[in-house]
Amino acid sequence: MSAPIPTTLDLPDEAATIAAALRLAPVLTVGDVIALSGPLGAGKTSFARALIQARAGAAIEVPSPTFTLVQTYELETGTVWHVDLYRLSGVGDITELGLDEAFATAITLIEWPERLGAHLPEDALSIRFETAGAGRIAHIASGSRPWTW
Ligand SMILES: Nc1ncnc2c1ncn2[C@@H]1O[C@H](COP(=O)(O)OP(=O)(O)OP(=O)(O)O)[C@@H](O)[C@H]1O
Ligand SMILES: [Mg+2]
Repeated sequence: MSAPIPTTLDLPDEAATIAAALRLAPVLTVGDVIALSGPLGAGKTSFARALIQARAGAAIEVPSPTFTLVQTYELETGTVWHVDLYRLSGVGDITELGLDEAFATAITLIEWPERLGAHLPEDALSIRFETAGAGRIAHIASGSRPWTW
C-alpha cells in the first residue's frame, strides 16, 4: 500500500536519513527527479548514497560528485544520475552536463538544485534538509504531481 509522502520528516540521526532513502528508492522510475537541497553538510549525499545503494542492491561505492558534478550508475533497476551542482560555474554548463538526457532516460538525484533555476523539471520531488540540533528535518514538496511511497 502506498501513502502520500509527508511534507515534513523528522530525521534525528543518519540512520533515519538512510531509512527515508530506503523507503523512497523502490518507488522511483525513469524520468523521476529528486531535488536535494539544504546547507553544506545537511545530509544530501547521505540520502543519495543510501538510495543508490538500495537500488543497486549492494553497498557499492557512491562518492560525492562535488568535483565531477555528475556520477552515473548503470544499475539493473535502471540508470541513476547523481548530480552535485555546488561548483557549477554558469548556466552554460547545464547543457554540457547533459541533464536533459538524464531527465528522459534515468532517475536523477540533484544536490544544490537551486543552481538549475527554471531548468529544474516542475514535477521534481523536492527534499530540503534543515539542521535541527544534532539531527535534521526534511521538508518535502511534491511539485506538479503527487508522489507516494
Ligand atoms: N539525520 C541526520 N542527523 C545527523 N547527522 C546526519 C543526518 N543525516 C546525515 N548526517 C550526517 O551529516 C554529515 C554530512 O552529510 P553529507 O555529506 O551527506 O551532506 P551534504 O548535504 O551532501 O553536504 P554538501 O553540501 O557538502 O554536499 C555526514 O557526516 C552524515 O553522517
Ligand atoms: Mg553532498
